[in-house]
Order: sequence, then C-alpha cells, then structure tokens
Amino acid sequence: MTATTSPALPQLIAHRGLSAQAPENTLSAVRAAHANGIDWVELDAQLLGDGTPVIWHDRGVRRCSNGRGGLHKLDLAAAKALDVGAWFGEAFQGERMATLAEMLDLLAARGMGLNLELKVCRGRDSVALAEAVIPRLLEALPAERLIVSSFDARALATARALVPDPERLRLGVLFEKIPKAWQAEAERFAAFSLHADWTRLKPERARAIKASGYKLLCYTANDPQAFAPCWAWGVDSVISDDPRRFLATT
Ligand code: G3P
Ligand code: MG
Repeated sequence: MTATTSPALPQLIAHRGLSAQAPENTLSAVRAAHANGIDWVELDAQLLGDGTPVIWHDRGVRRCSNGRGGLHKLDLAAAKALDVGAWFGEAFQGERMATLAEMLDLLAARGMGLNLELKVCRGRDSVALAEAVIPRLLEALPAERLIVSSFDARALATARALVPDPERLRLGVLFEKIPKAWQAEAERFAAFSLHADWTRLKPERARAIKASGYKLLCYTANDPQAFAPCWAWGVDSVISDDPRRFLATT
C-alpha cells in the first residue's frame, strides 16, 4: 500500500492530523502528516464566540489546552493566548490554536487534501458554522482535494444549499452505525461519501454502499490487522491517528 494510490481519494487519512505524533488538530499535526507521506488529513472545525472558524474538536478547551471552559466563550485573542501543545508534549509547548484560515494556507501550500468535519457541539449553531466555513474552503482548495463531512444533518443541508453542485462540493455523511435508511440520507445531501465507525460496519452494508457508487471511509482505525477485512469489503479510505502503521501492510 502506498500513501496515495489515487489522486482523487487516498487510502490513508490522518485523523485530526497525525495525532499520534503531534497535538491533534494543530498545524504541527498537519506538518507531521505531510512529513510522513500522508497528504490527506481529517480535521474538525467550530466557531469561536466572535465567529472566527477554528480547528478544534471538543466543546471545551480543557482536554487539549492549558485553559478551561467552552470554546464558544473565547474570542480570537483569548483562543490565541492558550497553549494547545504542551498537554501533548514539551516539544509542542507554545503551539497556538489554528484558525481555519491558517490551516487552509498550510494545506494549500503543501498541496494536501482535507476532510473537514463540521463539528456541531451541543447547543451550537450548525447553520452559522456551515455558512462561515464553506465559502473559505471553496476559495482555498480544489474540489477534488476536499470532503466536508458532519454528523449534523442541518450542517450538511446548509452546506448543500450553499453549493448545490455535488461536483463542486463533495459531502460526506458521518454515521456511527450506518442505518438501514443510509441511501435516503446520502441522496438527501447529494453525498459523495459515507463515513462509518469501522467497528460497527458490516460487510453486507459496506458492499451495498460501494455497489451504489458512494465512497466509503472508515474512522478511527489504528490496528491494520484488525482492519484488514474492511479493505476486502470495498472500503476506500481509513482515517487513522497513525496511518503510518498502515503503510507497512500490503
Ligand atoms: O470524521 C471522523 C471522525 O473524526 C469522527 O469522530 O469525534 O473523532 O470527530 P471524531
Ligand atoms: Mg472528526
């Protein structure tokens, strides 16, 4: 297996950047992915209280910074005052939260691909998030190097309303367990891909999705041996904290 077997969609995608080696969702994590031959990353986007789109997973900042409280309570200056690297390791001390704009500059400069997850945390506005993020993505990256995904139906619907052409904006529907009505969900958003928790994916469902022409991505797998059967079911890509492990398998 190579890092990129298809220019359109690689088999290996680094989850929150190369989050096994650098603090998740940071510029360092994306640089680490690139340095290791992984040229697609999955990242999470949310809005700060002042409306700035940033790359961040949790509803709050406690787990991945030296601060406390909700992300939505911070403006850009307060967010930038946080250290978002020291929690991971001394080498990353002083790392700053990445804005979407900063992250897109890095991805575009390195010719990388992005699966951007619109992360709608409890109580947050999915429409505002999609409206803030989608135009910036379209400006920064070509359609074939971008997938926007979400668990949130309103975020996906907003994204699709902003960009009705499915070739111009590839949407991925995120599921934990893929439901029986998966096809209706995919059609509803004119989706490009379905993204499944690999531990809950069944071979029959995977094969049906592939037979219907959708891309199938699996998150978050870190054990290439345990994951191996999924390739045989037609899975296109694995989203992994450490996709380097998958490079060694054939
Ligand atoms: O996009 C796949 C995966 O990132 C979804 O779960 O919680 O890691 O954002 P989470
Ligand atoms: Mg995510």
